[in-house]
Amino acid sequence: MRIISTERSQVLAARIAEKLGIPVVETKFTRFPDGEMYLRCGELDDDTLIVSSVVDNDMFVQTLLTIDAADESRNTLVVPYLGYSRQDKRFFPGEPISARAVARALSSGIDRVFVVNIHDRGVLDHFGAPAEDVTIAPAVGGYIGDLHLKNPLVLAPDEGAINFAADVAAVGGWDCDHLEKTRLSGEEVRIAPKTIDAAGQDVVIVDDIISTGGTLATAACMLREQGAASIHAACVHGVLTSGAYTRLRAAGVSSVVSSDTYENASSFISAANTIATAIREDAHR
Ligand code: R5P
Repeated sequence: MRIISTERSQVLAARIAEKLGIPVVETKFTRFPDGEMYLRCGELDDDTLIVSSVVDNDMFVQTLLTIDAADESRNTLVVPYLGYSRQDKRFFPGEPISARAVARALSSGIDRVFVVNIHDRGVLDHFGAPAEDVTIAPAVGGYIGDLHLKNPLVLAPDEGAINFAADVAAVGGWDCDHLEKTRLSGEEVRIAPKTIDAAGQDVVIVDDIISTGGTLATAACMLREQGAASIHAACVHGVLTSGAYTRLRAAGVSSVVSSDTYENASSFISAANTIATAIREDAHR
């Protein structure tokens, strides 16, 4: 097996290759004068692992081109971050189910798919090949352990992230809760942990995605008012758009970390071990 990646997943691909003890195939990426993308990968064998986070439209096209370049081998596609996955329903008439459109497009020429902490597991059904979601909650928990906080309270920002938060908290046997929104009046809303008092606690808010940081910044401001000793944020996919990082720091969040499913300067957590384990286990089935 050999491994190839698109441009925005090179680091994660190299880490997975190292864990699996397989070579990384060099790929050259350029553009035609009109802006269209071109790529050329080195020699592949019969079994190819393609690692490609769909972080934007360019990476979507680059994924399609990479899969096509590997059309003569058996291909396993790892999509650590699947862009468009939050539009997983038709919320209003006339809308596309974007997650379905992207999953279907990526399925041609693929034998097996892996994604990481997908926003909604229902998306897996839209791939035209067997698809599996793996979780890096243990790695996120490992990172929190390394922070050596005195009194960690792991918080999910909403009910949708409860299971993820529970899996993260299980790593250190830490307290875990989720934030609940209570409407106090027409204008006033209180956001606080459902059952545990945040006062004096080192709070770590965990979520699958931090995009604009709006969800976490609002929560952080309220938690500070409630007397939290410190506030940290950890997520799987650090999209961090529209100044999210500075927004969170300005809201009093002391550290913001994400994983290499979406490579950027805050990617201190790696999904490589989890992905490599899933690939190895799949090969033994
Ligand atoms: C939403 O359901 C997700 O789990 C995240 O909570 C959301 O994408 C975060 O977005 P933002 O950072 O823009 O508030």
